[in-house]
Amino acid sequence: MKRAVGPWTKEAGLLLPTLRSWRVAFHREPELSNAEARTREKVMHALDDLGIAYRTYSDGFHGVLGFLPSDRGGPVVALRADMDALPVTEATHAPFSSRSEGKMHACGHDVHMACLLGAAELLHRHPERLRGPVKLLFQPAEEEGGRGGALPFLEHGAFERPGVDFVLGQHVAPDVPLGRVGWKKGPLMAAPDRFEIRVRGTPGHASTPHQGPDAILVAAEIVTGLQALVSRLRNPVDPAVVSVGTIHGGTRHNVLPEEVVLTGTVRTVNARTRERMEQWIRRRVRSIAASLGARVQIRYFPGYPILVNDAAATDLAVAGLEREFGADRLVAIEQPGMGGEDFARFLERVPGTFLRLGVGTPSMTASLHSPYFLPDESALVYGSAALAAGAVGLQAGPRR
Ligand code: NI
Repeated sequence: MKRAVGPWTKEAGLLLPTLRSWRVAFHREPELSNAEARTREKVMHALDDLGIAYRTYSDGFHGVLGFLPSDRGGPVVALRADMDALPVTEATHAPFSSRSEGKMHACGHDVHMACLLGAAELLHRHPERLRGPVKLLFQPAEEEGGRGGALPFLEHGAFERPGVDFVLGQHVAPDVPLGRVGWKKGPLMAAPDRFEIRVRGTPGHASTPHQGPDAILVAAEIVTGLQALVSRLRNPVDPAVVSVGTIHGGTRHNVLPEEVVLTGTVRTVNARTRERMEQWIRRRVRSIAASLGARVQIRYFPGYPILVNDAAATDLAVAGLEREFGADRLVAIEQPGMGGEDFARFLERVPGTFLRLGVGTPSMTASLHSPYFLPDESALVYGSAALAAGAVGLQAGPRR
């Protein structure tokens, strides 16, 4: 039998109607990356209602930085939720489904925001449980994939005055059972880099392919040739993925096109492998193209950093979670996932950890980013308690 949950979870359970109303409001009106104006207003109104101080930015950046003061001199902990939705048309038929065609909180960021507000309310009600201040980071543009929202937040001074000692975040996880929280030290998520390859051939009649390089055939060889990098140059115990996601070229069955464009993604969890993968891709693509007489242009776009959880900070946060939930509600994650997450940028600045909030149920078959993705609302209770308990756990650690 499972141990009874701790005080944060019990109190969060009583807050469920409020947690639900926040979540429903966010979910109904999703906004895409860097367009989170209405979402920001909702966060501001919620913090106003709770009597929690915050600041916003007048230069178009949609972040909201809440602040819970403490004069006890302990570590400053930053808690983070992402705010943006995805260009997905919702198919859940939930009563609070997205009212915007082609936009949906399909990655659970509505849940993340409601949980951060929930944790804020819990901590605000119990300042005696805090050893230091807590910053609340409502961060836009996580899904944007390039500059993202974490970097601009840091550039806006989110981690200064007072300086942040630890950072904590979480993401809903369908592969972790509802009511449990997953944790891992070291690499948790991949660097999501991106490439674009333009193959130039000679346009002409498909009956006379010998008159010039055929861009279609060269592109096809590149698609299969790239997989040898993963299967033969990369160390098999070091996770990596290369996927070609789009391939465009040609207009008619008997015409050879002048150009074929491939785009794809490269996922790595080791900095050295990340560097080498780009070199390998460039070398392999050039050699395939050269061997068939085609010209090729390769553009490579680095994405978010590898997300690496600090070992000592993870221990502190997990100790806090264990006191709250009991060890049997915690799940040690064995392998990193190959998704990307710009929380990694916060972890490059200060130690901290990123948790996986369980939303898995027998009836939950949809994955993140699916038009059917709809986590159970009881995750709001566990997620609020996890952030509150994790923050208190981290504050048992040293100031930097
Ligand atoms: Ni997400």
